[in-house]
Amino acid sequence: PLTTTGELVTRAAAARSAVASFNVITLEHVEAVIAGAESAHAPVVLQVSENAVRFRGGRLLPLARAAVAAAEHAAVPVALHLDHVQSEALLHQAAEAGFSSVMYDAARLPYERNLAATRAAVDWAHARGLWIEAELGQIGGKNGRPPLDAHAPGARTDPEEARAFVADSGVDALAVAVGSAHAMTTRTATLDHALLKRLSAALDVPLVLHGSSGVPDHELTAAIAGGIAKVNIGTALNIALTGAIREYLADRPEAVDPRGYLTVAREAMTRAVARSLRTLGAATA
Ligand code: G3H
Ligand code: ZN
Repeated sequence: PLTTTGELVTRAAAARSAVASFNVITLEHVEAVIAGAESAHAPVVLQVSENAVRFRGGRLLPLARAAVAAAEHAAVPVALHLDHVQSEALLHQAAEAGFSSVMYDAARLPYERNLAATRAAVDWAHARGLWIEAELGQIGGKNGRPPLDAHAPGARTDPEEARAFVADSGVDALAVAVGSAHAMTTRTATLDHALLKRLSAALDVPLVLHGSSGVPDHELTAAIAGGIAKVNIGTALNIALTGAIREYLADRPEAVDPRGYLTVAREAMTRAVARSLRTLGAATA
């Protein structure tokens, strides 16, 4: 059934576990995430990023409608989350499209502008009953330092700044920069667990890990013990999907029916999802 992200994250945080949130780009991603969650008997979040919406010609509804329908028929609780939203026009479509939560991403902006933009997004979201996550990474421009992308491996969230940011913005959860980076195709990230501990002590909202595809199992397990309650995974599914299609087509140069390669791709993504969920489950079992 369709549930809310707030419900899943709150429950995970209370149990010192984490809920996985998987990026979906195509209908096959949606189907694979749900099938993987059903096989692992775990609730799950389907997240659609602003980039994925751009890929779909700027239209959110076709994929969102399909995801809602699939979630309603799932055997496990499934929530819909709108991820890495920078555009206010897109943010404002969230509730109507069936999303219970959004991640508003103004982390590229200097602190004061990030805070002001996030606070406006929080007011908007809370007025509609939406759960909202935001992000704070390293702030550029100080001491002549150039801005560092909040998703760069070297970026770090400062605990004191994070405490003020959460209090002043009213966000429900915070994505923190502790050593992971987006779109890694090897699982070689090392996390700053001492910093995570300080962030978790300083903040009374659940913490979110982005770029989790590049984080090895033992690091993920430790991060959950350290206070991460939502784990965002995208690239790992695309590695599975693309690898399966590449292999299928290499063996069958005459193939034309997309159902052949999409079937193996969907199966590979399902296995990747189930595997991730078992790791997260094992972290708290
Ligand atoms: O918000 C999405 C995630 O942070 C996914 O990152 O593709 O590196 O796993 P990833
Ligand atoms: Zn992310």
